[in-house]
Amino acid sequence: MMQILSVEHLGKVYGRGDTAIRALDNVSFTVEAGEFIAIIGSSGSGKSTLLHLIGGVDRPTSGTVRVGGEDIFSRSDEELAVFRRREVGLIYQFYNLIPVLNVVENMTLPVLMDGRRVNEERLGALVRTLGLTGREHHLPNQLSGGQQQRVAIGRALMNAPAIVLADEPTGNLDSKNSAEIMQLLRRSNRKLGQTLIVITHDEDIALMADRVIAIEDGRIARDERQGAARRGDETVRTASRVRRTAATGAAKTAGTAGGTGAPRPAGLGGAHFSTGAASAWAGVRR
Ligand SMILES: Nc1ncnc2c1ncn2[C@@H]1O[C@H](COP(=O)(O)OP(=O)(O)OP(=O)(O)O)[C@@H](O)[C@H]1O
Ligand SMILES: [Mg+2]
Repeated sequence: MMQILSVEHLGKVYGRGDTAIRALDNVSFTVEAGEFIAIIGSSGSGKSTLLHLIGGVDRPTSGTVRVGGEDIFSRSDEELAVFRRREVGLIYQFYNLIPVLNVVENMTLPVLMDGRRVNEERLGALVRTLGLTGREHHLPNQLSGGQQQRVAIGRALMNAPAIVLADEPTGNLDSKNSAEIMQLLRRSNRKLGQTLIVITHDEDIALMADRVIAIEDGRIARDERQGAARRGDETVRTASRVRRTAATGAAKTAGTAGGTGAPRPAGLGGAHFSTGAASAWAGVRR
Protein backbone atom coordinates (compact mmCIF):
# COMPACT_ATOMS: atom_id res chain seq x y z
CA MET A 1 0.00 0.00 0.00
CA MET A 2 1.13 3.48 -0.82
CA GLN A 3 1.03 6.25 1.72
CA ILE A 4 -0.87 9.17 0.24
CA LEU A 5 -1.26 11.49 3.20
CA SER A 6 0.84 12.34 6.20
CA VAL A 7 -0.34 14.73 8.90
CA GLU A 8 2.63 15.75 11.03
CA HIS A 9 2.43 17.51 14.40
CA LEU A 10 -0.39 19.64 13.13
CA GLY A 11 -1.44 22.56 15.31
CA LYS A 12 -3.93 25.33 14.78
CA VAL A 13 -4.57 28.30 17.05
CA TYR A 14 -7.35 30.73 16.18
CA GLY A 15 -6.99 34.30 17.41
CA ARG A 16 -4.37 35.47 19.86
CA GLY A 17 -3.83 36.54 23.43
CA ASP A 18 -6.64 35.96 25.92
CA THR A 19 -9.10 34.89 23.28
CA ALA A 20 -6.79 32.43 21.50
CA ILE A 21 -8.31 29.01 20.90
CA ARG A 22 -6.13 25.98 20.29
CA ALA A 23 -8.33 24.05 17.89
CA LEU A 24 -5.70 21.41 17.03
CA ASP A 25 -2.80 20.30 19.16
CA ASN A 26 0.01 18.15 17.78
CA VAL A 27 -2.06 15.86 15.58
CA SER A 28 -0.17 13.20 13.61
CA PHE A 29 -1.29 10.25 11.50
CA THR A 30 -0.66 8.72 8.10
CA VAL A 31 -3.15 7.46 5.55
CA GLU A 32 -2.74 4.78 2.87
CA ALA A 33 -4.16 5.41 -0.58
CA GLY A 34 -7.68 4.03 -0.82
CA GLU A 35 -8.38 4.00 2.91
CA PHE A 36 -11.81 5.00 4.21
CA ILE A 37 -11.47 6.82 7.52
CA ALA A 38 -14.22 8.11 9.78
CA ILE A 39 -13.40 11.02 12.07
CA ILE A 40 -15.58 11.29 15.14
CA GLY A 41 -15.60 13.53 18.20
CA SER A 42 -17.79 15.98 20.03
CA SER A 43 -18.79 19.40 18.76
CA GLY A 44 -15.92 21.88 18.81
CA SER A 45 -13.26 19.17 19.12
CA GLY A 46 -11.45 20.32 15.97
CA LYS A 47 -12.74 17.96 13.27
CA SER A 48 -13.60 20.58 10.65
CA THR A 49 -10.38 22.45 11.37
CA LEU A 50 -8.41 19.26 10.68
CA LEU A 51 -10.28 18.57 7.44
CA HIS A 52 -9.80 22.13 6.20
CA LEU A 53 -6.05 21.92 6.83
CA ILE A 54 -5.78 18.60 4.99
CA GLY A 55 -7.72 20.16 2.12
CA GLY A 56 -5.39 23.15 2.02
CA VAL A 57 -8.14 25.73 2.64
CA ASP A 58 -6.33 27.14 5.63
CA ARG A 59 -2.74 27.15 6.82
CA PRO A 60 -1.70 25.59 10.15
CA THR A 61 -0.03 27.38 13.06
CA SER A 62 2.47 24.53 13.33
CA GLY A 63 3.23 21.21 11.72
CA THR A 64 2.51 20.18 8.18
CA VAL A 65 0.45 18.08 5.80
CA ARG A 66 2.15 16.00 3.10
CA VAL A 67 0.24 14.69 0.12
CA GLY A 68 2.16 12.27 -2.05
CA GLY A 69 5.21 13.15 0.04
CA GLU A 70 5.04 16.86 -0.70
CA ASP A 71 4.47 19.51 1.98
CA ILE A 72 1.35 21.28 0.70
CA PHE A 73 2.03 24.40 2.76
CA SER A 74 5.38 24.98 1.12
CA ARG A 75 3.30 26.01 -1.90
CA SER A 76 2.26 29.55 -2.71
CA ASP A 77 -1.39 30.50 -2.33
CA GLU A 78 -1.85 30.10 -6.08
CA GLU A 79 -0.29 26.65 -6.10
CA LEU A 80 -2.43 25.72 -3.12
CA ALA A 81 -5.54 26.78 -5.06
CA VAL A 82 -4.49 24.45 -7.88
CA PHE A 83 -3.98 21.65 -5.35
CA ARG A 84 -7.52 22.20 -4.01
CA ARG A 85 -9.05 22.08 -7.47
CA ARG A 86 -7.18 19.04 -8.72
CA GLU A 87 -6.18 16.77 -5.91
CA VAL A 88 -8.87 16.98 -3.26
CA GLY A 89 -12.64 17.13 -3.20
CA LEU A 90 -13.87 18.86 -0.06
CA ILE A 91 -17.50 18.63 0.97
CA TYR A 92 -18.06 21.43 3.44
CA GLN A 93 -20.20 21.07 6.55
CA PHE A 94 -22.14 24.15 5.47
CA TYR A 95 -21.91 23.40 1.72
CA ASN A 96 -20.30 26.67 0.58
CA LEU A 97 -22.26 26.81 -2.63
CA ILE A 98 -21.99 30.00 -4.66
CA PRO A 99 -25.43 31.66 -4.27
CA VAL A 100 -25.53 33.20 -7.77
CA LEU A 101 -24.63 29.98 -9.59
CA ASN A 102 -27.09 27.20 -10.39
CA VAL A 103 -26.68 23.51 -9.59
CA VAL A 104 -24.68 22.58 -12.69
CA GLU A 105 -22.56 25.74 -12.50
CA ASN A 106 -21.74 25.07 -8.85
CA MET A 107 -20.80 21.49 -9.60
CA THR A 108 -18.56 22.35 -12.55
CA LEU A 109 -16.95 25.50 -11.14
CA PRO A 110 -13.68 23.94 -9.90
CA VAL A 111 -13.16 22.18 -13.25
CA LEU A 112 -13.85 25.35 -15.25
CA MET A 113 -11.67 27.45 -12.94
CA ASP A 114 -8.93 25.00 -13.75
CA GLY A 115 -9.36 25.74 -17.45
CA ARG A 116 -10.44 22.20 -18.21
CA ARG A 117 -13.38 20.75 -20.05
CA VAL A 118 -16.35 19.37 -18.15
CA ASN A 119 -16.77 15.61 -18.39
CA GLU A 120 -20.44 15.70 -19.43
CA GLU A 121 -20.87 11.98 -18.89
CA ARG A 122 -19.70 12.20 -15.29
CA LEU A 123 -21.79 15.32 -14.72
CA GLY A 124 -24.91 13.58 -16.01
CA ALA A 125 -24.24 10.48 -13.94
CA LEU A 126 -23.68 12.54 -10.78
CA VAL A 127 -26.82 14.65 -11.31
CA ARG A 128 -28.83 11.43 -11.70
CA THR A 129 -27.24 9.55 -8.82
CA LEU A 130 -27.58 12.53 -6.52
CA GLY A 131 -31.28 12.85 -7.37
CA LEU A 132 -30.86 16.34 -8.80
CA THR A 133 -32.54 15.69 -12.14
CA GLY A 134 -34.89 18.57 -12.93
CA ARG A 135 -33.01 20.87 -10.54
CA GLU A 136 -30.03 21.54 -12.81
CA HIS A 137 -30.82 25.23 -13.28
CA HIS A 138 -32.01 26.05 -9.79
CA LEU A 139 -30.06 28.38 -7.53
CA PRO A 140 -28.99 27.16 -4.08
CA ASN A 141 -31.70 29.22 -2.32
CA GLN A 142 -34.30 27.40 -4.41
CA LEU A 143 -33.16 24.04 -3.05
CA SER A 144 -33.78 22.19 0.19
CA GLY A 145 -30.91 21.76 2.64
CA GLY A 146 -30.48 18.13 1.63
CA GLN A 147 -30.44 19.05 -2.06
CA GLN A 148 -27.78 21.71 -1.43
CA GLN A 149 -25.74 19.13 0.43
CA ARG A 150 -25.99 16.80 -2.57
CA VAL A 151 -24.82 19.57 -4.92
CA ALA A 152 -21.79 20.08 -2.68
CA ILE A 153 -21.08 16.36 -2.88
CA GLY A 154 -21.38 16.46 -6.67
CA ARG A 155 -18.97 19.38 -6.86
CA ALA A 156 -16.41 17.47 -4.78
CA LEU A 157 -16.68 14.37 -6.96
CA MET A 158 -16.75 16.14 -10.34
CA ASN A 159 -13.06 15.84 -11.08
CA ALA A 160 -12.60 12.40 -9.48
CA PRO A 161 -10.05 13.61 -6.91
CA ALA A 162 -7.53 11.27 -5.28
CA ILE A 163 -8.70 12.38 -1.84
CA VAL A 164 -12.31 13.05 -0.85
CA LEU A 165 -12.80 14.99 2.38
CA ALA A 166 -16.38 15.04 3.61
CA ASP A 167 -17.52 17.07 6.61
CA GLU A 168 -20.74 15.46 7.85
CA PRO A 169 -21.87 14.83 4.27
CA THR A 170 -25.20 13.38 5.35
CA GLY A 171 -25.85 15.78 8.22
CA ASN A 172 -28.93 17.17 6.51
CA LEU A 173 -30.29 14.01 4.96
CA ASP A 174 -32.89 11.49 6.10
CA SER A 175 -31.74 7.92 6.66
CA LYS A 176 -32.66 6.70 3.16
CA ASN A 177 -30.85 9.54 1.38
CA SER A 178 -28.01 9.28 3.84
CA ALA A 179 -27.49 5.60 3.05
CA GLU A 180 -27.59 6.33 -0.68
CA ILE A 181 -25.01 9.10 -0.40
CA MET A 182 -22.70 6.92 1.66
CA GLN A 183 -23.04 4.14 -0.92
CA LEU A 184 -22.11 6.62 -3.64
CA LEU A 185 -19.02 7.77 -1.70
CA ARG A 186 -18.08 4.19 -0.87
CA ARG A 187 -18.46 3.06 -4.50
CA SER A 188 -16.35 5.95 -5.67
CA ASN A 189 -13.76 5.12 -2.99
CA ARG A 190 -13.56 1.49 -4.12
CA LYS A 191 -13.86 1.96 -7.87
CA LEU A 192 -11.41 4.84 -8.22
CA GLY A 193 -9.21 3.84 -5.29
CA GLN A 194 -10.06 7.20 -3.75
CA THR A 195 -8.99 7.96 -0.23
CA LEU A 196 -12.09 8.89 1.74
CA ILE A 197 -12.09 10.83 5.01
CA VAL A 198 -15.53 11.44 6.48
CA ILE A 199 -16.41 13.40 9.59
CA THR A 200 -19.55 11.99 11.10
CA HIS A 201 -21.78 11.85 14.15
CA ASP A 202 -23.57 8.86 12.65
CA GLU A 203 -22.49 5.55 14.14
CA ASP A 204 -23.64 3.57 11.12
CA ILE A 205 -21.28 5.58 8.92
CA ALA A 206 -18.41 5.25 11.39
CA LEU A 207 -18.95 1.50 11.39
CA MET A 208 -18.64 1.35 7.59
CA ALA A 209 -15.13 2.80 7.69
CA ASP A 210 -11.85 0.85 7.64
CA ARG A 211 -10.55 2.99 10.45
CA VAL A 212 -11.92 5.41 13.03
CA ILE A 213 -10.02 8.39 14.40
CA ALA A 214 -11.53 10.06 17.45
CA ILE A 215 -10.63 13.69 18.14
CA GLU A 216 -11.06 15.26 21.56
CA ASP A 217 -9.99 18.78 22.47
CA GLY A 218 -7.88 19.07 19.35
CA ARG A 219 -5.96 15.84 19.94
CA ILE A 220 -6.25 12.29 18.69
CA ALA A 221 -7.94 10.32 21.45
CA ARG A 222 -8.09 7.05 19.49
CA ASP A 223 -7.03 5.74 16.11
CA GLU A 224 -8.29 2.22 15.41
CA ARG A 225 -8.73 -0.05 12.46
CA GLN A 226 -11.92 -2.04 12.29
CA GLY A 227 -13.60 -4.58 10.07
CA ALA A 228 -12.66 -7.75 8.26
CA ALA A 229 -9.08 -8.02 9.45
CA ARG A 230 -10.12 -7.79 13.07
CA ARG A 231 -13.37 -9.62 13.48
CA GLY A 232 -14.08 -10.97 16.91
CA ASP A 233 -14.01 -9.42 20.35
CA GLU A 234 -11.86 -6.53 19.37
CA THR A 235 -14.17 -5.39 16.58
CA VAL A 236 -17.16 -5.64 18.83
CA ARG A 237 -15.42 -3.52 21.43
CA THR A 238 -14.41 -0.97 18.82
CA ALA A 239 -17.95 -0.89 17.48
CA SER A 240 -19.52 -0.24 20.84
CA ARG A 241 -17.01 2.48 21.56
CA VAL A 242 -17.72 4.08 18.20
CA ARG A 243 -21.38 3.90 19.04
CA ARG A 244 -20.87 5.61 22.37
CA THR A 245 -18.59 8.36 21.03
CA ALA A 246 -20.77 9.04 18.02
CA ALA A 247 -23.83 9.30 20.23
CA THR A 248 -22.06 11.69 22.62
CA GLY A 249 -20.95 13.83 19.73
CA ALA A 250 -24.45 14.02 18.31
CA ALA A 251 -25.95 14.86 21.67
CA LYS A 252 -23.41 17.59 22.28
CA THR A 253 -23.95 19.02 18.82
CA ALA A 254 -27.68 19.12 19.29
CA GLY A 255 -27.34 20.74 22.70
CA THR A 256 -24.81 23.44 21.85
CA ALA A 257 -26.75 26.62 21.42
CA GLY A 258 -24.88 28.83 19.00
CA GLY A 259 -21.96 26.41 18.96
CA THR A 260 -20.17 25.34 15.84
CA GLY A 261 -22.67 22.51 15.48
CA ALA A 262 -25.71 24.80 15.49
CA PRO A 263 -27.57 24.89 12.21
CA ARG A 264 -26.75 27.85 10.03
CA PRO A 265 -28.61 29.17 7.05
CA ALA A 266 -27.24 27.13 4.19
CA GLY A 267 -25.09 28.76 1.57
CA LEU A 268 -24.99 32.10 3.34
CA GLY A 269 -22.00 34.17 4.38
CA GLY A 270 -20.12 33.88 7.63
CA ALA A 271 -16.60 32.69 8.17
CA HIS A 272 -17.24 29.36 6.51
CA PHE A 273 -18.28 30.98 3.27
CA SER A 274 -15.42 33.42 3.09
CA THR A 275 -12.72 30.92 3.96
CA GLY A 276 -14.28 28.31 1.74
CA ALA A 277 -16.02 28.91 -1.53
CA ALA A 278 -14.85 32.45 -2.07
CA SER A 279 -11.20 31.51 -1.99
CA ALA A 280 -11.18 27.76 -2.54
CA TRP A 281 -11.09 27.79 -6.32
CA ALA A 282 -9.75 31.24 -6.85
CA GLY A 283 -6.23 31.75 -8.01
CA VAL A 284 -4.53 31.82 -11.32
CA ARG A 285 -5.22 29.20 -13.97
CA ARG A 286 -2.33 27.04 -14.95
N1 LIG B 1 -12.51 30.67 12.18
C1 LIG B 1 -12.46 30.44 13.48
N2 LIG B 1 -12.10 31.42 14.35
C2 LIG B 1 -12.02 31.18 15.69
N3 LIG B 1 -12.28 30.02 16.26
C3 LIG B 1 -12.64 29.00 15.46
C4 LIG B 1 -12.75 29.15 14.03
N4 LIG B 1 -13.13 27.96 13.50
C5 LIG B 1 -13.25 27.11 14.54
N5 LIG B 1 -12.95 27.72 15.72
C6 LIG B 1 -12.92 27.09 17.05
O1 LIG B 1 -12.05 25.97 16.99
C7 LIG B 1 -12.60 24.87 17.71
C8 LIG B 1 -12.76 23.69 16.76
O2 LIG B 1 -13.76 23.99 15.79
P1 LIG B 1 -14.18 22.99 14.64
O3 LIG B 1 -15.11 23.72 13.74
O4 LIG B 1 -12.97 22.40 14.06
O5 LIG B 1 -14.98 21.89 15.49
P2 LIG B 1 -15.79 20.60 15.01
O6 LIG B 1 -15.19 19.43 15.70
O7 LIG B 1 -15.86 20.57 13.54
O8 LIG B 1 -17.25 20.86 15.63
P3 LIG B 1 -18.72 20.50 15.05
O9 LIG B 1 -18.95 19.03 15.32
O10 LIG B 1 -19.63 21.34 15.88
O11 LIG B 1 -18.76 20.85 13.59
C9 LIG B 1 -13.91 25.38 18.31
O12 LIG B 1 -13.65 25.77 19.63
C10 LIG B 1 -14.27 26.56 17.45
O13 LIG B 1 -15.03 27.49 18.17
MG1 LIG C 1 -17.37 20.80 12.17
